[in-house]
Amino acid sequence: VQQAQRKRILDTLRLSHEQLLDVKERMSDAMLKGLSKQTHQQASVKMLPSFVRSTPNGTEHGDFLALDLGGSSFRVLLVRVRAGTKHKVEMNQKIYSIPQEIMQGTGEELFNHIVSYMADFLEYKGMKGVSLPLGFTFSFPCYQSRLDEGILLKWTKGFKASGCEGRDVVTLLKEAVRRRGEFNLSFVAVVNDTVGTMMTCGYEDPQCEVGLIVGTGTNVCYMEEMRNIERVEGDEGLMCVNMEWGAFGENGELDDFCTDFDRTVDETSTTPGKQRYEKMISGMYLGEIVRNVLIEFTTKGLLYHGKVSERLKMRGIFETKFLSQIESDRLAMRQVRSILQHLGLTGSTCDDSVLVKEVCMVVARRAAQLCGAGLAAVVEKIRENRNLNQLSISVGVDGTLYKTHPHFSSIMQETLQDLAPQCKVLFHKSEDGSGKGAALITAVACRVQQEQL
Ligand code: BG6
Ligand code: GLC
Repeated sequence: VQQAQRKRILDTLRLSHEQLLDVKERMSDAMLKGLSKQTHQQASVKMLPSFVRSTPNGTEHGDFLALDLGGSSFRVLLVRVRAGTKHKVEMNQKIYSIPQEIMQGTGEELFNHIVSYMADFLEYKGMKGVSLPLGFTFSFPCYQSRLDEGILLKWTKGFKASGCEGRDVVTLLKEAVRRRGEFNLSFVAVVNDTVGTMMTCGYEDPQCEVGLIVGTGTNVCYMEEMRNIERVEGDEGLMCVNMEWGAFGENGELDDFCTDFDRTVDETSTTPGKQRYEKMISGMYLGEIVRNVLIEFTTKGLLYHGKVSERLKMRGIFETKFLSQIESDRLAMRQVRSILQHLGLTGSTCDDSVLVKEVCMVVARRAAQLCGAGLAAVVEKIRENRNLNQLSISVGVDGTLYKTHPHFSSIMQETLQDLAPQCKVLFHKSEDGSGKGAALITAVACRVQQEQL
């Protein structure tokens, strides 16, 4: 009886081939809606133009600063690009932490903080007072009408500094730089992390025309035909579109597949109703889904002798790294138990550990499949755009969940193959982060600006 009860609960988290096909089709529809002039305002997937139109051609050069805000760590980088020599990009970086109070305080405090780290970095590099162009990786949805401006549409991933939504983040940054009065910024390019990652990988492989992040949040960008981006003037060539696919589901597209656990995670988050797809896929939320399933199992008497511990009631105890660790194939059950003990989930029997591991597997599998189904819609769109029977394409990927989870990438690729059999897709893990790509984008912009002078 217990076995059947467990299975019934876990089955709600399993998706069939037909359901995944549905997800892919709904994603395709959402993309078209986001691209169209008439319907983009109602679209869940915003399909934001990035004003990045081409990959580097090797002639750009110079020194650039880069900032990387919105992932699990905040970084300041110095990127030196040498002309002609394609692989001559030198990078120096420092990682800083942004305390929770700052993430959720006022915008002025947040940007002051960022600028103080920049000042610290310049001093550390012996470059105090130097003014350089900056590639600003800002991993949140921004409306762009040019490369050097980005209006923050809404915060995601737990950030909620006040007074920023609806404002240009370049202006917010420049105001903070002015307040500090120690250095200047000559030019600032706003770059989403997906776009930066695509560019980082695109520097090595010109077939890299998609950027994917599966980390704290999840998102995709890809090269779209200008003629399909109705909100931007001009029909010639390509432009990179930041999909902001994490918001998929905000129009109910995922309601058929959502479980009670997903609804609880959504309702108890800081942004109820928002980023529904992201909440089923990314690192910031998977642990919460697992925790809610474990609570359900325990209240039903199927786990921990039916006793819900105080620890299990605490939000956020299950960090992504635990999910990756628990599923590691080399781990014996004894070690799974010790991980659980480390989480304060003491008193687990061997059976309990087996069940917890199974819950982690089912939740991560669904995430990887959903991500693969979304990606199938993206590569199929590119294939259809180009009228090809077969498409060969590369995807640049970054994010802690993708990089550390033992099965995420293989399950995702399996689903993609299954749902987009006419596309041959190669994945490159970005080892250099998105800062390098952001600096290259800035370099291209500076080159073009100089050519126009
Ligand atoms: C980093 C990129 O490597 O990956 C960031 O440079 C990005 O821009 C991040 O946001 C995503 O991963 P995570 O797991 O840190 O959210
Ligand atoms: C969130 C952000 C998006 C970013 C993604 C990955 O979905 O809204 O801009 O690309 O997280 O970091």
